[in-house]
Amino acid sequence: MGFVRKDHFHKKAKKEGYRSRAVFKLQEIQKRFRIFRRGGKVLDLGAAPGGWLQVASEFVKREGKVVGIDRLPIEPLPLSNVTILEGDLLDPEVREEALATLGGHAEVVMSDMAPNLTGVRVTDCVRSFELSMLALNMARQCLSAGGSFVAKIFPGDEFETFLHECRSSFRKVRTTKPEATRKSSSEVYVIALDFKALPSEETESSD
Ligand SMILES: C[S@@+](CC[C@H](N)C(=O)[O-])C[C@H]1O[C@@H](n2cnc3c(N)ncnc32)[C@H](O)[C@@H]1O
Repeated sequence: MGFVRKDHFHKKAKKEGYRSRAVFKLQEIQKRFRIFRRGGKVLDLGAAPGGWLQVASEFVKREGKVVGIDRLPIEPLPLSNVTILEGDLLDPEVREEALATLGGHAEVVMSDMAPNLTGVRVTDCVRSFELSMLALNMARQCLSAGGSFVAKIFPGDEFETFLHECRSSFRKVRTTKPEATRKSSSEVYVIALDFKALPSEETESSD
C-alpha cells in the first residue's frame, strides 16, 4: 500500500510548528543527558529539513550559535542564532567550510545523518558507520574540552569499533533509542559526553 499512516509524533511536530518528528528525539536526549547550555555553540551535521536546528536554537538561546549543514537545501529559518550551509560532508572542503563558519570551539556536535538506504543491511550499516566516523572526526576537531557528541548509527559489525573510537575521545559513552524512533527502525543514538581535551589544549589551560 502506498498509504503511510501519519503517526503521533509526526502530527505533534506539525502542530507545534517543528519541521520533523526527530525533534522529540533530541528533546528526550537533552532531558536525559543535558548536553546543551545557554550561549553554547552547536554543529548539526545532516540538518535538513531543520527540526534539530529549531530545538537546538531554543536550547542555546539568543546568545548561542547553531550551524547546520546538509547536502539538501534547507528552507531558511527565522532564527537569528542559526546559520545554514549546503554541501556534502563527504567533501573535505565542505567540512572545512562548516568548521570555519562555526568559528571556534563547539559544545555540541550532533549527527542525524543517514545514508540513502539500499535495503541490503550490511551495506547500509557500513555506510552508516562511515558517516558516523566522519562526524566523530569533525567533533574531535572542534569540540571544547567537556563537550558532547551525538550520532545516529545503524548498528552492524562495525558498531563496537565505533563505540571504541568514541570511548577513546570521551569519558562517558552511552547508547539510547529515543521514544520517537520508529518501531521499524534499527537506528540507535550514541551519546558521548565529556570530550577529553587534546594534549595541546591541556597545556594551554594549565599555563
Ligand atoms: C534524518 S535526516 C535529518 C533530520 C534532522 N535531524 C531534522 O530534525 O530535521 C538525515 C539527513 O542527513 C543528510 N545527509 C546524509 N548524508 C549526508 C552527507 N554526506 N552530507 C550532508 N548531509 C547528509 C540527508 O540529506 C538528510 O537530510
